[in-house]
Parts: sequence; structure tokens; C-alpha cells
Amino acid sequence: MPNPAPDIIPPDAGPLLAGLSAPLAAVSTRSGEVVNAQIAVAITAASIVLHRPRLIVQIYHTNYTHDLIATGGVLAVNFLNHDQLPLIWQLGMRSGRDGDKLNEIAYSVGTTGSPLLEGSYGYLDCRVVNAMDGGDMTAFLVEVLAAQTNGGQRLTWREARPRLPRHWADEWDRKIAGEMNVSLATMADIDPAAWAYPPAAWDGQ
Ligand SMILES: Cc1cc2nc3c(=O)[nH]c(=O)nc-3n(C[C@H](O)[C@H](O)[C@H](O)COP(=O)(O)O)c2cc1C
Repeated sequence: MPNPAPDIIPPDAGPLLAGLSAPLAAVSTRSGEVVNAQIAVAITAASIVLHRPRLIVQIYHTNYTHDLIATGGVLAVNFLNHDQLPLIWQLGMRSGRDGDKLNEIAYSVGTTGSPLLEGSYGYLDCRVVNAMDGGDMTAFLVEVLAAQTNGGQRLTWREARPRLPRHWADEWDRKIAGEMNVSLATMADIDPAAWAYPPAAWDGQ
């Protein structure tokens, strides 16, 4: 079993956990020396204990981020600020498999080694404690090891969607249509195996 997670001061994490029904976040991760980040909205609070926040983060199998979380066992949820619209294009429309997406984005390194993106509304830096396969995606159960609310104005997908330039919106519609087909073809193919803890990255911690 891992060491217990440190207590989190509720006001640090509380504003981030409120209203998780439609967050807009960059989920960043590290596996060894490799870092990456993607956009995600499928994120929910999963703990009633205020000083031990947990989340469920749903990541699609086809994403590079998925493979890095599965091998590294860590991720950070960076909630987007109102002026971070470009990150939707940079991190949500392209894959880290096709090139380093973070080489032109400023970040610091969190407790878990995950990138913490500069200028975010705040972050929750997490390690994976379990996972459930959904066929097309994995629902990672993660516990928060560090949290910080930076402030600003949280960007939601509802607000961001109409602000997207036309060619981004067209590209998104094309991408999501293809991904729906992939999900339809794979979502019944569920692997019931439990998360094999700890991944190499967390040995001895
Ligand atoms: C608004 C928006 C919301 C998204 N939500 C999710 C999500 O909740 N889970 C997920 O796995 N992918 C989600 N994506 C898709 C990934 O961000 C996208 O496929 C990304 O290119 C994957 O990058 P990667 O291959 O480098 O991991 C979303 C994308 C956008 C633009």
C-alpha cells in the first residue's frame, strides 16, 4: 500500500472541487522523463472527506496521455483560466504522439512530477489509486497530494465553445465524430483487471 496522502487544507482545494460537473482542464502527466498534457472535461469529485480529496478522471484509450498515466501513475488537473482558450487547440486537438505539446508552454513541476501549467485557475496534483476500464476509456481514481487555487476566472466548455475560431470548431467536430466511432467499436471490450499498484514511477514512495 502507498503511504497515506498528506492532509489538504480544504480552502486550497475547495474552490477547485466546486462545480466539477463541467470543468475544463488540462490533464498533465509524467512517465519517467516524458511529459504530456491533454484537455479533459470528464472529471468528477469522488470523496466526501474535505481534507482527502479524490477525483475520477476519464481518459480515452487512444490518447497518448492515457498511456503515460497508466505507466507513470500520476496526473495533475490544471483548471483553465479565462485567457487560456488557446490551450484547447494546443492540447485538445493534437496528440503528444505527433510532437512535444509542452515545449512552448510554461510550466513548473509538481509534487508528483506532473507539469503544472502557468496561469491556470488552479491545480490538483494527484496520484492514481485505482482504475476501471470502460473499453474505450479508463476511469482513473486519483487522490490529491497537493492543491493550489491561483485565482482568476475559471473557463468552462460552455463559455469556450462559442469563442472558438471557426476552423478550430470545425476541426473539433471532425475529431469528435471520429472518436465517437472508435468508442462505439470498443466500449463493450472491457478488461475487468484491477489497477496494478504501484506503477514503477511510485516504487518506494
Ligand atoms: C473541450 C474538450 C474536452 C475533452 N474532454 C476529454 C475528456 O474528458 N477525456 C479525454 O480522454 N479526452 C478529452 N478530450 C480529447 C483530448 O484532449 C484530445 O484527444 C487530445 O488530442 C489527446 O491528446 P494526447 O494524445 O496527447 O493525449 C477533450 C478535448 C476537448 C477539446
